[in-house]
Amino acid sequence: MSFIIVAENTTYRYGAKIVLENISFQISEKEKIALLGKNGSGKSTLIKAINRLIPSYSGRISFRFEKLRHDYPTDIYTIFSHPDEQILMNTVYSELALGLLQQGRKEEEIDAIIEKSLSYFGLLPYIHESPYCLSSGEKKKLLLATAFSLNPGILVLDEPFSNLDAKSKKELSLYISKLDCTQIIASHEYEYIRSFCTKAFVLYNHRLFIFDRIQDILDNPSFLAEYELS
Ligand SMILES: Nc1ncnc2c1ncn2[C@@H]1O[C@H](COP(=O)(O)OP(=O)(O)OP(=O)(O)O)[C@@H](O)[C@H]1O
Ligand SMILES: [Mg+2]
Repeated sequence: MSFIIVAENTTYRYGAKIVLENISFQISEKEKIALLGKNGSGKSTLIKAINRLIPSYSGRISFRFEKLRHDYPTDIYTIFSHPDEQILMNTVYSELALGLLQQGRKEEEIDAIIEKSLSYFGLLPYIHESPYCLSSGEKKKLLLATAFSLNPGILVLDEPFSNLDAKSKKELSLYISKLDCTQIIASHEYEYIRSFCTKAFVLYNHRLFIFDRIQDILDNPSFLAEYELS
């Protein structure tokens, strides 16, 4: 089996403050991982680490090490928890076009992909608007539409359900469950993520605990209490 991400004894800290200590894991192609942990346990830190936004102070994370023999994937798409910080362009259309042009898509196919992606998330009426005129839930959907248009190999989502209304949460669950790529999803919305994640990574006390079946943690009240998830 080929691993898409391998972390070996990695430690991450902000200054002197250790957040994750001696973390090791392997993620296979197409696995859908729920990243769980109480507030401040290090979920967003691990997501930043996967995106090479913070250095590891020991150990290493490698990507498709065995297969491609280079260290960082170009087909990873991450939606961070604050959409404002990652919206770059001044129209909804150009926000989606940016990534598609970088992928080398032909101009004639770009319009069709953008229309399909925006329609999927109910954002087509905003195609020529500024992204900054969107509500926070709509901004999140804009980034999801961008991910949808790019069809990434690895999709990383940090709190994808925050700011979404109940109907949008259901729709997003359905969309994520249909996506056939490797996924890492940090969320406190257990009922939604259990519908599409197979495995759970739990961060607690700076350590990572791996549950090969997500139900082994979510259906076990004493584990939930032990890791302060309930
Ligand atoms: N830039 C930073 N500088 C210093 N400390 C930080 C920084 N970012 C996060 N931390 C600290 O690292 C710890 C982990 O934060 P992180 O944001 O990764 O948690 P989280 O699990 O994503 O929490 P939440 O569920 O609230 O999103 C927290 O104690 C936080 O205060
Ligand atoms: Mg977080």
